[in-house]
Amino acid sequence: MRVLVLGGHGFAGRSVVTALLDAEHEVSVASRRDGLDLTSLDQTLAWFTAQKPDVVVNCAALVGSLNFVTERAAEVVDTNLRMLTNIYRALAERLPHAVLIQPVANCAFPGELTLYREQDLWSGPIHRSVLSYGATRRMMTVLAECYAMQHDIRTITLFTPNMYGPFDSPDPNKAHALNALCARVVKADIAHADITAWGTGAPVREWLYAGDFARVITAVLDELTDPRWDTPFNIGQKDGMSIAALLDLVIASASYKGAVNWDRDKPDGAPRKVMDDALFRQLLPNFAFTPLAEGIQETVAWYRSIYPY
Ligand SMILES: NC(=O)c1ccc[n+]([C@@H]2O[C@H](COP(=O)([O-])OP(=O)(O)OC[C@H]3O[C@@H](n4cnc5c(N)ncnc54)[C@H](OP(=O)(O)O)[C@@H]3O)[C@@H](O)[C@H]2O)c1
Repeated sequence: MRVLVLGGHGFAGRSVVTALLDAEHEVSVASRRDGLDLTSLDQTLAWFTAQKPDVVVNCAALVGSLNFVTERAAEVVDTNLRMLTNIYRALAERLPHAVLIQPVANCAFPGELTLYREQDLWSGPIHRSVLSYGATRRMMTVLAECYAMQHDIRTITLFTPNMYGPFDSPDPNKAHALNALCARVVKADIAHADITAWGTGAPVREWLYAGDFARVITAVLDELTDPRWDTPFNIGQKDGMSIAALLDLVIASASYKGAVNWDRDKPDGAPRKVMDDALFRQLLPNFAFTPLAEGIQETVAWYRSIYPY
């Protein structure tokens, strides 16, 4: 299949490209460094016309840490909405038979939920700390429905928990939560420094290895015409791990010998936040997720390979 991966050099995108090539798809990649700025409708139209893919996987976004999406809130909402509307307009005008596959980050769900069920997406407000980015992720589901209604564009929407794994940005303001933790421990190990962790370490969160996200996409492509994919679904395990237990795994993987100081004055947030897995288990009953210990080992090894940078 001819697959165009938007944002294919990014954290999620690189794992997707690797998995698609392994599955022998014909893959092309596009982002600004290749000459496609998705905030330009003209460029997006021209690129889609030239490439003519059967499938577009959208891993392009302006995204970063909580700090990043707050400090640059207006830019985050503006840029991401323009990218998304351009992608859909270009699909409708130039590639009406192509299928769009897109991850929707779980920060789109209401902030007060502790179990993310697909049907609860609109049941409350987005947490203010991720309002700019989360709102654009919710809009992805609106665009998907509206372009299906008017133009018959098919979108496959994957609600996706926090990802971790190799290939994230080395910039601490861009790296994602568990990756940032791996990076800090590896750096502290190199510098023989102590680390400070926030809160009590008790909150439980769900994590997805980026390679597993990519394997879900190749599994979808294996049976692309199956209409069961058309209902947005969680890549969910309904399982998580406390921050303290995660940190223990990272420390063991990095053979870190320094001290860990917990700053218990910092807030913990909700005690538990996980993705419901009922629909996912129906759709892909035999899918085996990478164990956290294994994925963290790979991630720490990757940070070892890029530091000092
Ligand atoms: N990482 C996670 O934990 C996570 C969890 C759930 C869902 N997701 C979703 O996965 C997707 C990708 O996230 P990520 O973490 O992989 O982000 P990332 O590492 O920052 O990659 C984003 C990619 O988008 C490209 N891009 C940015 N602005 C662009 C523009 N104007 N035109 C064209 N390309 C542009 C960037 O490449 P250039 O700089 O070359 O343009 C980059 O390759 C997002 O939808 C995100 O919500 C991620």
